[in-house]
Amino acid sequence: MRVAVVGATGAVGREMTRILEERDFPVDELVLLASAKSAGRTLRFRGEEVTVRELSLEALLGVDVALVSAGAAVSRSFVPEAAAAGTTCIDNSSAFRMEPGVPLAIPEVNPEALEGAPRIVAVPNCTTITAMLAVGPLHRAAGLRGLVLSSYQSVSGAGWKGERELFEQIEKLRGREEDLGRPDREALPEGEVFGKTIAYNVVAKVGDFGPDGYTGEESKIMAEPRKILGLPELRVVATSVRVPVPVGHAVSILAEFSRPISPEEAREALRAAPGVEVRDDPANGVYPSPIEAAGLDVALVGRIRRVEHDPNALALFSCADNLRMGAALDAVHVAEHLFTR
Ligand SMILES: NC(=O)c1ccc[n+]([C@@H]2O[C@H](COP(=O)([O-])OP(=O)(O)OC[C@H]3O[C@@H](n4cnc5c(N)ncnc54)[C@H](OP(=O)(O)O)[C@@H]3O)[C@@H](O)[C@H]2O)c1
Repeated sequence: MRVAVVGATGAVGREMTRILEERDFPVDELVLLASAKSAGRTLRFRGEEVTVRELSLEALLGVDVALVSAGAAVSRSFVPEAAAAGTTCIDNSSAFRMEPGVPLAIPEVNPEALEGAPRIVAVPNCTTITAMLAVGPLHRAAGLRGLVLSSYQSVSGAGWKGERELFEQIEKLRGREEDLGRPDREALPEGEVFGKTIAYNVVAKVGDFGPDGYTGEESKIMAEPRKILGLPELRVVATSVRVPVPVGHAVSILAEFSRPISPEEAREALRAAPGVEVRDDPANGVYPSPIEAAGLDVALVGRIRRVEHDPNALALFSCADNLRMGAALDAVHVAEHLFTR
């Protein structure tokens, strides 16, 4: 197969290329595409250097499947035409996620969305995936009624520029860490990606604020579960917070079901589910954290608790690698589902 990675030089695109190699996806020719500024660079695939080319429709001619990860505006500008010309486009951006007729797919959670050989498939937001891998199996068991999602999102969720901003700020504050209890606010580093200081801080703004007070990220996290689970009326409230973690998103989940469900039943359902590993033995120090989830091909789920006075509700905590599990791996899983099963 001719396979393209669009946004090949980015945080997610690099992971996509790595995963295609790791999983031995049947690639006969790999086409790496990015912006004009990266044209001519080379990236390694199966021990060989592959030259990155500038994205254009012509570059995608004859490509069977394109894994697309270059931002929503770039996706909107070429995916519909490339799909019409015969390339199956698996898109990581928000461009087509809520478009009727475009599957929003997590193969472990809603594989039925991929029936019928779709030409455009949308990969959900990385926080949505982290939450849905934990909630999907519980929904199947007990019927989901409502969700409160509070996310702790790593800086790589904003791409390589986000990681660089955190590391630069940590460097700038080196030697001044002990003063941060009474900081000289004028001297705190601020960057273009996160606005407020991200080193040694948390920022309750991921994306831009909308007229309803929710950020763009929160709006996505509220809308996408409804489509994935086929529950258009599902009540979802989200708060997204950026934290100074390089890789790995965490989500605190309050889930309400249509019947009582115990933590024991939930653990059993999650142990049987694909894409999830239960780590839930807090007394022995076993519970998920983002750095433990980084590099893994599962979401780690734990801290599963009852909710006082509400036997139909559970509180839990899920962590996943936002670049792999929350983006690149989902895209490759979709490609495997469509082409290699
Ligand atoms: N990071 C995450 O955790 C995550 C998770 C889920 C989904 N996503 C989505 O994945 C996409 C990429 O995110 P990222 O984090 O990988 O960003 P990134 O590190 O900033 O990488 C962006 C990539 O897009 C390419 N690109 C930018 N403008 C382009 C253009 N006009 N034509 C062709 N290629 C262009 C860049 O190429 P150059 O290097 O040449 O500029 C680079 O390869 C976004 O839509 C994002 O929302 C990200």
